[in-house]
Parts: sequence; C-alpha cells; structure tokens
Amino acid sequence: MLDEGKSIQEIREKTGLAVGVNNISLDIEDGEMFVIVGLSGSGKSSLIRCMNMLNIPTKGELVIDGENICNYNKSQLQELRRKKVAMVFQHFGLLSHRSVLKNVEYGLEVQDVPKEERAKKAKEAIKLVGLEGWENYFPRQLSGGMKQRVGLARALTNEPEILLMDEPFSALDPLIRRDMQTELLSIEDYMDKTIIFITHDMNEAFRLGDRVALLKDGELVQVGKPRDFFENPANDYVSSFIEDVDKSRILRVKTVMREPIVLAKLGDRTDKILEDLNNKDRDFCYVIGDKQELLGYVESDTIGKHPGHKIDSFVVEEVESINRNAFVFETFSKLDESDIDVAVTDKRNRLRGVIDHQDIVSALTH
Ligand SMILES: Nc1ncnc2c1ncn2[C@@H]1O[C@H](COP(=O)(O)OP(=O)(O)OP(=O)(O)O)[C@@H](O)[C@H]1O
Ligand SMILES: [Mg+2]
Repeated sequence: MLDEGKSIQEIREKTGLAVGVNNISLDIEDGEMFVIVGLSGSGKSSLIRCMNMLNIPTKGELVIDGENICNYNKSQLQELRRKKVAMVFQHFGLLSHRSVLKNVEYGLEVQDVPKEERAKKAKEAIKLVGLEGWENYFPRQLSGGMKQRVGLARALTNEPEILLMDEPFSALDPLIRRDMQTELLSIEDYMDKTIIFITHDMNEAFRLGDRVALLKDGELVQVGKPRDFFENPANDYVSSFIEDVDKSRILRVKTVMREPIVLAKLGDRTDKILEDLNNKDRDFCYVIGDKQELLGYVESDTIGKHPGHKIDSFVVEEVESINRNAFVFETFSKLDESDIDVAVTDKRNRLRGVIDHQDIVSALTH
C-alpha cells in the first residue's frame, strides 16, 4: 500500500496496522555516536529494534560489516546479540536478586566464560561507569542513575562493537542525566564504540551526537551533524524543532572541527613537509605517531634549515589541545583572537582534527 502511495493514516484505517519505519536509509559509521530523535510515536524504537532484529523489517536490508542480518538464522542472531550488538533499555532490566557484580557478569555467564575472567571483565566495566566499590550492593540499594550505570556496565562487558540505547536516560532527573551524558561521551571517546542512542530531547541529541537523525511519522526528516540542522534545516518542521537551542552550549568541538590542512607523521622528511607547508601557505603543522597520537608540531622556519633530514628531531613537544567533546563555548578562551589551528584530540591523545577561531564564528553565526 505504501508503494501505491497510500498514506499511513489510510493504511491504519484500512488494515489496523501501524507503519513503524517508512523507507529509511542510513549509513552509520564505525565509532560514531549516532543519535535518533523525534517525538513520541515517531518510530525511534521501531527503528533501533530493527538493528538487532528484535523487529523484523518487512522490506529492505540491514547490513553490519557487509552482512545482511535480515538473512541470519536463529543461531547467527543469537551470536550477533551476544557478541556484537548490545542493547541498553530504558528501565534498566536488572535482576533484583543479584548483586551489581553478578548483574554485570550476566552476559558472560550465559556464554560460559570462566568465572575469574568474567569477574575481571565485569569489574573493569563497573569501574568505567564510575561504580567502583558498589560491586556487592543489590539493585534495590541503588538510585535510578546508579541502576542505569549498572545497565550500561552490563552492556559493555560483552565488549560489543555496537551499543543500542533506547532512551536510557529519560527516567533520570536532569542533574544525573547530565552526569550520565558526560560519562557516556567519555566511554565512547575512550573505547571507540559505535553507539546508537535514542532520545526525544533535541538538547540531548545535539549534546551527544556526532550525527543526528530526526524522525517524524516513521520517516526520516533530516540526518546530519548538529550544525547542519542550524545551517540547512530541511524544512519548517526542523526549524521549529531547533528554535530554542543555544548553539554554543550544544555544539561540540568535534562537530565543528576540520581536517588539518597539512599533517606530518614521525619519520617524514623535512623537504616533503616543507614543500607541503609552502604550497598550502602554512608555517607549522602537527606531527602524529603510528597510532595517530599527537606528538607536537614542526615549524617551517626550523625544518627549512635542515633539508634532507627526518623531521623527528625538530618536533616541538609542548602543544596545547582541546578535547573533541568540549562544548564550543568552553573553547572561547583558548581560541580567542588567535587564528592558528588548535589541535583537537580524544581521550587517548589521538589527533582528530583542528579548529580555529573562524571555524567557531562561522558555526555560531550560521
Ligand atoms: N508492537 C507494536 N505493534 C503495533 N504497533 C506498534 C508496535 N510498536 C509500536 N507501534 C506503533 O509504531 C509507531 C512508532 O512507535 P515507536 O514505539 O517506534 O515510537 P517511538 O518514537 O519509540 O515513541 P516513544 O518516544 O514514545 O518511545 C507508533 O504509531 C506505535 O503505535
Ligand atoms: Mg520508544
């Protein structure tokens, strides 16, 4: 009926069926924090539940690492849910007769992971979500925010590549919610997980998301970086959705930064980098190591005096950087007046991009 151009109202009247997700096409990148936002009933849960086949789509495909999971049989799906894709639910889903530690171990227990190993992994996850010391408490002794952390730790112990989170923070009060958002960002920053996060709060969506998808009536209205929604709202619905948002407190450095114009790796030759710098009219560039870690910078003046060398001995190691999850307003003092590219790094000190004063101004004034 959809193919025949019938509306979802018409379909509901004639058949009694709801169209949950209507013809949505999305690519989600490895390591991305992808947020799905929309009003109640817009199809968010229906969509995320397709991503581990709790909902079976009637049409289309769902490809994870090149495999269409719609074709998976029962045991392949079980494997997928145990190892690759974990889900965190809104109402915690904790087992009340088990301690925090035993709750977090649960997923490993059903996989027959040996006792010592699972305790070790569970404790790591508990530490990661900030609950160290609470291992032997029971759910009834915890606050809502703490229970949510246990749920998150449990999802993390399986070391899934993909975390699905369906409005995990909506039951929490605003302060705890803010804490959990910060916690989640730092976990993602550190572990490089792909996280798909649902919320109906636009502020939360923009605060967390590398990219955001806005749904309405089961359809995709717009998908993009938070700043795209301000710069190019797809229609009036989007404009009214974002009307009351304070951009400087919502936009994160990572959604505003850009690629460095020139970048050097340890081991590069001075001549090559100098040529690059001259061509691009730059007087310095950052230097990274094998693991993309930020080591410092080299200046054209210096390497210009030493042709035919590796750049390694000319790297200036004192370098200031900004974490990619910082809010734009937090960078004002660092970027004030200066027009140099400041390095943007993650928690492991890997260089993720650069940003200058002009980038911020253009992001905020658009
Ligand atoms: N199991 C179901 N059977 C029939 N219709 C359903 C089912 N689950 C959801 N729907 C319908 O699908 C549509 C989308 O629902 P969905 O739960 O995906 O919305 P949502 O965006 O997650 O909303 P909320 O913010 O309230 O959680 C709604 O019209 C709903 O009535
Ligand atoms: Mg829902």
